[in-house]
Amino acid sequence: MANDLMERIISLCKRRGFVYPSSEIYGGFANIYDFGPLGSLLAKNIRDVWIKKMVQERNDMYLIDGSILMHPKAWEASGHTVAFTDPLIQCPSCKKRFRADKLEGWNLEKDNQTGKWNVLNQGSLICPDCNGNLIPDVKEFNLLMTTNVGSIEGEKTKVYLKGESCQNIYLDFLPIRDTMGAKIPFGVAQIGKAFRNEITLGKFLFKVREFEQMDIEYFCSPKEAKKLYEEWKNIRFNWYIDTIGLSKDRLCWRQHSSEERIFYARDAWDIEYKFFDEFEELEGIHDRSDYDLKQQGKFSGKTLDYFDPVGKKRFTPNIIECSGGLQRTFLAILAEGYREEKVNNEKRVFLKIKPNLSPYKVAVFPLVANKDNLIEKAKDVFNLLKPEFMTIWDSIGNIGKRYRRQDEIGTPWCITVDYQTLEDNTVTIRDRDTMKQQRIKIEELIGWIKEQLNV
Ligand code: GAP
Repeated sequence: MANDLMERIISLCKRRGFVYPSSEIYGGFANIYDFGPLGSLLAKNIRDVWIKKMVQERNDMYLIDGSILMHPKAWEASGHTVAFTDPLIQCPSCKKRFRADKLEGWNLEKDNQTGKWNVLNQGSLICPDCNGNLIPDVKEFNLLMTTNVGSIEGEKTKVYLKGESCQNIYLDFLPIRDTMGAKIPFGVAQIGKAFRNEITLGKFLFKVREFEQMDIEYFCSPKEAKKLYEEWKNIRFNWYIDTIGLSKDRLCWRQHSSEERIFYARDAWDIEYKFFDEFEELEGIHDRSDYDLKQQGKFSGKTLDYFDPVGKKRFTPNIIECSGGLQRTFLAILAEGYREEKVNNEKRVFLKIKPNLSPYKVAVFPLVANKDNLIEKAKDVFNLLKPEFMTIWDSIGNIGKRYRRQDEIGTPWCITVDYQTLEDNTVTIRDRDTMKQQRIKIEELIGWIKEQLNV
């Protein structure tokens, strides 16, 4: 069901409060989206498992949470003000904008000193949208967004929104090295916003203008860079399988050619995922050499280096970068988990996602909604579980309908308080994927759920 699957996921996201178009009452805005109540929980769970695996369970990682606005010189130093460009062609008839490098038959190469794109091969000149004639006039389009700091008109300073979230990690290299006593090799992790004036959009959350990146910048000696690059490639690929639950056969590697490679990278590989009908980038793993610390050092006049106390040598650390997109991971989880099946001749939609990623871990229902003693008992169970897990209450409609509502949002377990509960303090707990039920003592519920969640 490829593209059809995307439509179903978009519809589910909107219907059930995962994702809303930003500013929808004004007709939406610029391919920007809000996470709704359920989407916020899923996004938080992704961030949490990333931090747990990449920071908490390791002893060589530090977490930071940097600002969005930075000194504008940092973006000159990084090269983004000049080289962070895409080649733009605008159709003179329909005014639609396209990336020339994505048009059929075109091959272009970027000059990283000037940000200019040289056309190696001119391809189709037919507008993919209106079939009009394109003029082969390729313009450099800088992806950085700008804003102003200062309150007096005319005295404001133009600043940039982060084009890539990681930049403050390089600026914080010195204080982290000094305040944390960090010994190389070590890494800095950050989940932060990035903003890009993308020319081509679409595909829901896949390509948006405001998004979050989950970045690891791993500082190492030049000698170790190659080996650690391979290690990090493995760690990140396996994270998507073991922690996020994506299937191995929907993941693959793709190395960037020299024409495609971003200006700061010595080597670049993408982890790609088959979201719908084709494999597309989920995370970029870059060998950034000593580019970032050298550039920021040059522009700031500070020496961003490291003294190795064992080898008694001073050097500029190399950086291995793993940069994953939160929105793309979110979309991959939904694309992987979305299931439809027939149960008793009716369609059942369920999200087969890892329980620790599910927005709600558990739902509590009274068997019927008009018996005070059942409701009271069910409220007791609800209040017992709520401090421990994201728990949702539902007493609307029949049990079957409540199960379906929870299946659709990926709640792994539904607990029903029935007449037997009033006699023996047991409840039924029903599994989302198998739909099987078992009886369990109320006093054992918390332990049982924790065991399943492995917490
Ligand atoms: N600091 C490195 C960097 O920014 P990138 O490959 O441009 O590298 C890293 O971006 C990740 O950020 C991508 O693999 C993707 O998951 C996500 N990403 C990039 N542009 C995006 C966009 N317009 N919308 C959603 N996610 C995006």
